[in-house]
Amino acid sequence: MKNRLVCICNVVSVKEIITTFNKGASCTSDIQKITRAGTTCGKCLVEIDGLVEEFLSRLPENPQQRINF
Ligand code: FES
Repeated sequence: MKNRLVCICNVVSVKEIITTFNKGASCTSDIQKITRAGTTCGKCLVEIDGLVEEFLSRLPENPQQRINF
């Protein structure tokens, strides 16, 4: 389901958003700047916020550890 589109307006998938986390994104604003997701109608922002929240909840205590998101 990682290829499922989150942002229809800008054709951004879950997979692309996960890729932004792996590149250092850590908030919705970062994702918007990198992918443009959520920058048109804004209907997808709730889901993007949810993905950010899930990502942040999975961060290891040791930042050197790899995150399997
Ligand atoms: S669905 Fe993401 S900006 Fe419209």
